[in-house]
Amino acid sequence: MATVGLIGGTGDLGNALAVHLAKKYLVFIGSRSLDKAQSTVNDVLEEKSASSYLQSNLRPAENSQVVTSCDSLILTVPHSNALDTIQSLLTSFRGNQLLISAVAAVGKQDDEFFVDEVPGGGSFAESIRKILPDTVKVAAAFQTVPANVMYKELSISADVPVAADSPDTYSSAASLISDIQGLRPLYVGSLKQANEVERLTALLLNIGKRNALKSPTTKFPSF
Ligand SMILES: NC(=O)c1ccc[n+]([C@@H]2O[C@H](COP(=O)([O-])OP(=O)(O)OC[C@H]3O[C@@H](n4cnc5c(N)ncnc54)[C@H](OP(=O)(O)O)[C@@H]3O)[C@@H](O)[C@H]2O)c1
Repeated sequence: MATVGLIGGTGDLGNALAVHLAKKYLVFIGSRSLDKAQSTVNDVLEEKSASSYLQSNLRPAENSQVVTSCDSLILTVPHSNALDTIQSLLTSFRGNQLLISAVAAVGKQDDEFFVDEVPGGGSFAESIRKILPDTVKVAAAFQTVPANVMYKELSISADVPVAADSPDTYSSAASLISDIQGLRPLYVGSLKQANEVERLTALLLNIGKRNALKSPTTKFPSF
């Protein structure tokens, strides 16, 4: 069975993706602390009435173990810790892996969300690409996916913009995204576009707040 590892998977988005991906993959919930990862797995099993696929396919691990052992990785840590986290795990990557950054460039001031850029410019995904060896494919995706809706396993129909360092990387990321019911990956182009993808979260959160829309997401109908 193919493996997916969630770096910082103990948070809202990590938990949400884990409950869906465990239907098809062996999923490792990663954390800086093995105890926290174990307690998160226990909580998810309890909240989801220990579904049989979760019991079999959900495992706790330290982030470094996740990075060493998984074919595909999803980075689900706050943007302010994203680059330091990748740097600290650098020696654990074994290569021939896919890393999808779900990191959104979003901050909050007073009652408004804003785009909190990478210091020095560019996107988080491009900065991660520069840190990692070429044998790790890098994509940006999931920034527009609301964790609460996904965790509750409510019916969803959403488009997921994906920026990727090559069409081949896009295909790998799209295949994983398509394995989650209700999500449709859409290719936006190279990692140069990741900036735009990472900015969408602040836009969605402000739209939700100002218009009393619960958990808005992206959908691109065509006519
Ligand atoms: N929540 C959403 O609906 C949503 C939607 C789209 C995109 N995103 C993006 O996805 C990412 C994760 O979102 P989230 O809401 O799941 O975040 P979160 O709950 O705030 O944090 C996720 C995990 O990051 C780890 N973490 C926290 N501080 C850290 C630090 N200083 N260094 C290393 N790791 C640290 C923690 O894991 P441990 O303590 O176990 O190590 C934490 O459980 C963010 O970049 C967010 O912008 C979120």
